[in-house]
Amino acid sequence: DASDIEKGTYPHYMLKEIDEQPFVIRRIIQKYQDDNGELAIDQAIVNEVLNADRLYIVACGTSYHAGLVGKQLIESWAKIPVEVHIASEFSYNMPLLSEKPLFIFISQSGETADSRAVLVQTRKLGHKAITITNVPGSTLSREADYTLLLHAGPEIAVASTKAYTAQIAVLAILAASAAKAKGLELDFNLMKELAIVANVMEMLCDAKEEMEKIASDYLTLTRNCFFIGRAVDYYVCLEGALKLKEISYIQAEGFAGGELKHGTIALIEDGTPVIALATQEHVNLSIRGNVKEVVARGANPCVISMRGLEGEGDRFIIPAVHPALTSLVSVVPLQLIAYYAALHRGCDVDKPRNLAKSVTVE
Ligand code: AGP
Repeated sequence: DASDIEKGTYPHYMLKEIDEQPFVIRRIIQKYQDDNGELAIDQAIVNEVLNADRLYIVACGTSYHAGLVGKQLIESWAKIPVEVHIASEFSYNMPLLSEKPLFIFISQSGETADSRAVLVQTRKLGHKAITITNVPGSTLSREADYTLLLHAGPEIAVASTKAYTAQIAVLAILAASAAKAKGLELDFNLMKELAIVANVMEMLCDAKEEMEKIASDYLTLTRNCFFIGRAVDYYVCLEGALKLKEISYIQAEGFAGGELKHGTIALIEDGTPVIALATQEHVNLSIRGNVKEVVARGANPCVISMRGLEGEGDRFIIPAVHPALTSLVSVVPLQLIAYYAALHRGCDVDKPRNLAKSVTVE
């Protein structure tokens, strides 16, 4: 569809692609339904997953961050061990493989050379592979045994947004299908919860003014910014930091809340912006303790929490979604904050310096 690759009334592809996320989630719900109207993955793929004794997710950048969330979903729902590897490290630092490994390559473009090198290498060893990609017919799709499509529509902005949430949604459906096939039914309806996620994403996309205000309050003049979170929030912090650094050139890092005291806290100075995510009940107290620690060293905190877990002074509260699916919504404010920070600083949002949309060299 030609309208897919036009900006329309949007000033940038990135903003358009952020806004498309609710629709992408709904499209995924539609595309991944079986004849009974239930969320399902192709039986042949589920069989491969069940035959494996360990899954190896291999990816780069944002796709790697989606893989970290996917590991958690697959391990907690389907009880299958998963390792997540950065593609460019895999070949040189190859893990000891299990007896029956199955590889899952996550790549928006399906053209990333680092990921492809691992695919070629592991196929030579006789291992099977699934590619999760947005581009049908891409190299990684053609060369793998199976493909799961993201159905996100073309992603043009160099900073990946809708592909990340699509990757997590597809991984969630894969995890749920594998769980079901093992007789481990989830105690909630994933389709219904993903539909709620899409609605909440829409509300978050409507909160642009608040996100723009956060960007101008915290990020106009700063030279750095830290993102802290625990459990799945930590993984989303890694993604939020990558978004911010690649388009605004602010030095940004995501840290696990509990790791701060082991070194990172030395970086906190008067006024250092610290964006904290608090969407997980079991770590809510401890992440808030970490916020107090950085505030005591002068940090300027911006807490983004989930409804029901909010605390005094939180800067933004995300409407509640299922606790296992928070990454799909908590990333949206971080994408928007990165977008506005880059805009305010006069950066080329869609085409940041030194970066290409797909990295086809190793
Ligand atoms: C994300 O915003 C990046 N531009 C980048 O990290 C990207 O996710 C990475 O290069 C992997 O690309 P792929 O998903 O197309 O393989």
